[in-house]
Amino acid sequence: MEDAGIYKLSEEIALVQTVDFFTPIVDDPYTFGQIAVANSLSDVYAKGGKPLLAMNIVCFPVGKMDISILREILKGGLDKLKEADTLLVKGHSVDDPELKYGLAVTGTIHPKKVVLNNTARTGDKLILTKPLGTGIISTAIKGNEASESAINAIVKSMTTLNRKASELMQEAGVSACTDVTGFGLLGHASEMVEDTSVGMVIKASSVPMFPETLHYIEKGMVPGGLGRNREFRAHMVAIEKGVPETLADVLYDPQTSGGLLIAVAPEKAQKLLERMHRAGIREAVIIGEILSEPKRKIVVHA
Ligand code: CO
Ligand code: CO
Repeated sequence: MEDAGIYKLSEEIALVQTVDFFTPIVDDPYTFGQIAVANSLSDVYAKGGKPLLAMNIVCFPVGKMDISILREILKGGLDKLKEADTLLVKGHSVDDPELKYGLAVTGTIHPKKVVLNNTARTGDKLILTKPLGTGIISTAIKGNEASESAINAIVKSMTTLNRKASELMQEAGVSACTDVTGFGLLGHASEMVEDTSVGMVIKASSVPMFPETLHYIEKGMVPGGLGRNREFRAHMVAIEKGVPETLADVLYDPQTSGGLLIAVAPEKAQKLLERMHRAGIREAVIIGEILSEPKRKIVVHA
């Protein structure tokens, strides 16, 4: 599931409601729990909201898997929720052949401060706050090909909350935002321009990616979702000659607990970026901008 429902309760307060659900992407159950929570909270942060309550949803093969694995997953999740100052309320579990863990999250926001994903304006700069490649490196992990350093890099990123990035974007005042998750950078970027009167240009060489991402994709470690993401959005995307095919593929890589993609007025962009860097969001970078033409399209140049 993607994106958040916004429910205005009064002039002062709206609820942001989301739900997300994951199968394990790393071997360590505690880490998996942390990643699932970081990703589940992300849709609230992308709207500029503050997650308040979260409810566990667990599918577990009862009797076939050691229950201590589930305990570790939930502990990882709970610790990450505490870090986010989000309260864990009751959850629900079912007996299921495949382990899955996710959360339904309720956040709050001032109704006038909701950041939508389709309100970018011509001239806005695009800031991406985390590198790409978690899908490709996860595929390499499954094939026992991923290096320790690549694994460590994505784990550190996937367990990092988008909280600080969200707070800084709210302070700055931005035009639009989305989180980058299953549809990949170009999938979520497409949502920012479809049904609008603007277009987007992305400079492929500026897009940050985890070490060895290109190496693994060149060795054929392509997650299933990548091709589907490309098929779904190719009609909106023009990849210019000079952009290597493997690099273009990374732009469609499905992300787990990816960063925020923020459209911000050009005069605010550099300051916001510097504040992010000072706050420890070191990989945040400007990757492109919003243009008036071509409308509802994304041009990727080298
Ligand atoms: Co989501
Ligand atoms: Co989202």
